[in-house]
Amino acid sequence: MSEIRQITSLTNPLVKAVRGLHLRKEREASGQFLAEGLKIVTEAVELGRPPRVLLYGPEARDHAVLRKAADATHKAGGEVVEVTRDILEKISRRDNPQTVVAVFEQTFAALESLVPAGHAVWVALHAVRDPGNLGTIVRTADAAGCGGVILVGECCDPYSVEAVRATMGSIFAVPLYRASIPEFLAWRQAWPGSVIGTLLTASVDHRGADYRRPSLILMGNEQQGLTAELAAACDVNVKIPMRGRADSLNLSVAAGIMIYAAID
Ligand SMILES: C[S@@+](CC[C@H](N)C(=O)[O-])C[C@H]1O[C@@H](n2cnc3c(N)ncnc32)[C@H](O)[C@@H]1O
Repeated sequence: MSEIRQITSLTNPLVKAVRGLHLRKEREASGQFLAEGLKIVTEAVELGRPPRVLLYGPEARDHAVLRKAADATHKAGGEVVEVTRDILEKISRRDNPQTVVAVFEQTFAALESLVPAGHAVWVALHAVRDPGNLGTIVRTADAAGCGGVILVGECCDPYSVEAVRATMGSIFAVPLYRASIPEFLAWRQAWPGSVIGTLLTASVDHRGADYRRPSLILMGNEQQGLTAELAAACDVNVKIPMRGRADSLNLSVAAGIMIYAAID
């Protein structure tokens, strides 16, 4: 590996900037985000998304896979830095940090560029609040082969450290789109398949709905559920049956059930 900088000071400006990526305001200002772990970094490189900055601890120095990631980072004009374990702990805010962390550029695709027929199933989330739920849904969308995830209205940040951790690397594989509610409602008019809302008060069992392809599954917010306005914009609203005392399923669990029902 060539041109490796070494940083040992917690007050180094690069370390400060990387730590700042825990804050949404800093992520939005820089358009960057933090991902942890050599496996995820390798996956990003394989998908043509090399890091802007690759930081690793001394234990990872001789790892052949790290060298490959470092070469790809250099080739793309990024920076490779060896840091202390102490710095990795502070960056990841964990006692037992990953030996590799990296800074990447965020990407959001334009809704107008979405080609519905390109995939059988797509997912839209309204006002998702919990980064763990959002990351888990992106991971499930990836596993099931969905085309992408559309974030409607004010959602939590898919590029927060918590959301990215929950995606387990799928953040690099699943296109993300953003739309305000009016933008989504207007765009939805031209959707060629079924738009399926998920609603606790629906009378249609999710297994009985017509998942005409491409299917667009619309999930509601954790607290309020799907709004009346969005539910009215769906071709059908469905309910996943619940037999016990729970009054709802966790959002990411419900999304997983819906995605696989639509894909089968
Ligand atoms: C935790 S639930 C929302 C609960 C909210 N109190 C409500 O009244 O809808 C979050 C989202 O998961 C989905 N969901 C959860 N359980 C569901 C079920 N049994 N059937 C269909 N969708 C469900 C819906 O999209 C819902 O908006």
